[in-house]
Amino acid sequence: MDELPGPSRWPLLGNLPQMRPSLLHHQFDEWCDEYGPLYQLRMPGRRIVVVSDPDLNREILRDRPGGFRRQSAIESVMDEMGSNGLFSLEGDAWRLRRRLAMPAFNAAHLRSFHPTLETITGRLRRRWEQHSPKDIRGDLTRYTVDVTAKLTFDYDINTIEQSGDIIQRHLELIFPLINRRINSPVPYWRYVKLPGDRALERALAALRTDLAAVIGRARANSPQQPTNFIEAFLLAQDDSASFTDDELFAEALTILIAGQDTTSNAMAWLLYHLAGNPAVQERIRDEVTEIPSALGRQPYLEAVVVESMRLRPTTPIVGLEAVKYYIRAAKQHMGEMAPNEVIGYGLAVTLPWILGLSFGRTNTAASHPMGISNVPGPRNPLYWNGARLETIYPISLLMHGNPLNFTCIGYQGGLHFGVLGVQDKLPPMAYLTAAMDVAVDELADLLLPDEVRTPLAAG
Ligand code: HEM
Repeated sequence: MDELPGPSRWPLLGNLPQMRPSLLHHQFDEWCDEYGPLYQLRMPGRRIVVVSDPDLNREILRDRPGGFRRQSAIESVMDEMGSNGLFSLEGDAWRLRRRLAMPAFNAAHLRSFHPTLETITGRLRRRWEQHSPKDIRGDLTRYTVDVTAKLTFDYDINTIEQSGDIIQRHLELIFPLINRRINSPVPYWRYVKLPGDRALERALAALRTDLAAVIGRARANSPQQPTNFIEAFLLAQDDSASFTDDELFAEALTILIAGQDTTSNAMAWLLYHLAGNPAVQERIRDEVTEIPSALGRQPYLEAVVVESMRLRPTTPIVGLEAVKYYIRAAKQHMGEMAPNEVIGYGLAVTLPWILGLSFGRTNTAASHPMGISNVPGPRNPLYWNGARLETIYPISLLMHGNPLNFTCIGYQGGLHFGVLGVQDKLPPMAYLTAAMDVAVDELADLLLPDEVRTPLAAG
């Protein structure tokens, strides 16, 4: 990483003073022209590698969530709002949810949303026929707000023909406020709630109430053809896994956030590109005359949409954190230390976090549903005031979203396990410890000669 080129940087602040937040993607583009498709930046406390190579980016995106993860702030901010959905979950929790949710997006379900799309598109068409549009992007945002609200909340908000709806006001403020929290360098709202934070909580509470009614109706009616995403999610579940109400709320909010600005901006760029290409407009008109329903495939139109998104991507930057790289680097770093140094270093690094956790001040979600800690403790006997330390019972920490922890520590050639779990979130721990006994025996059978196994069996 050190060898990668990159713009010169300031002491301590790195490249921060050169960043133009609203034009970051242009800035990255300019640096790409100068330093190539792979270059490095420094920000206080973090190193960034900018990758503009499409093949490499494809590989990186496929290596989620194992090798790379989204910004950790997204998961913790969404989790504390009780709304961790597909866009914010990571690791195994993401894998499970993805398997459960994907059938909801199948072609048959999306087709059954078509009448809703047709109604709302008709309203936009009438609006533009009556008054020539002044703010096309604004109108398209109203359009996508209406579509996503109807498809998630089963709520016909109709911002195209009217305004001032209370739900609309809630939706308008949720996205920028969540964004503000994700990009805030300090999680100030955990200590002081500003007016915006209180408004966010009120908006989420109101949406939660509305959505509870939609979920109740969908569970009661269980229709075969879904008319909204909640019904589609419920149809997608099977005997092995099902959605809780909280998970449905999280997915509905995800769709509201993920599906609005992305689609409205993509459509605005599409219209912009079409405005400069009358010949392309003409060909699209011909194709739509021949294949009038969007339910049929319109290959030329689809190709134009994809090209427009290639020319002006509405999410030009995807920020990811390199999980595997940092775990490997940390292991190498720790591997160069003596066992006692590892314990001291680990304590020093995690102390602020442990203190925050102990005083209820850390509200960040754990990135894994289970913690595993493996410490190569002291090899020689330890004494305190002449008394010999016979054994160590490791007890580690649980954190928000992490109900199970295994810690094992080595001492004098033995390995000591501690298992800590939350009673009301897990099956009885005795099942697990009994299974561990069996697993240790199996491992010993496989690996150890008989003379070494005897003390193991007795211990
Ligand atoms: C032109 C429109 C859209 C663009 C450009 C766009 C872009 C993106 C991008 C860049 C990601 C992150 C990919 C990654 O990190 O691997 C993403 C994820 C996601 N988007 Fe979209 N999106 C669009 C429309 C939508 C719509 C309409 C919905 C919902 C109906 C949606 C729902 C999601 C969800 C649920 C995820 C997370 C998927 C996962 O991690 O499993 N998006 N989108």
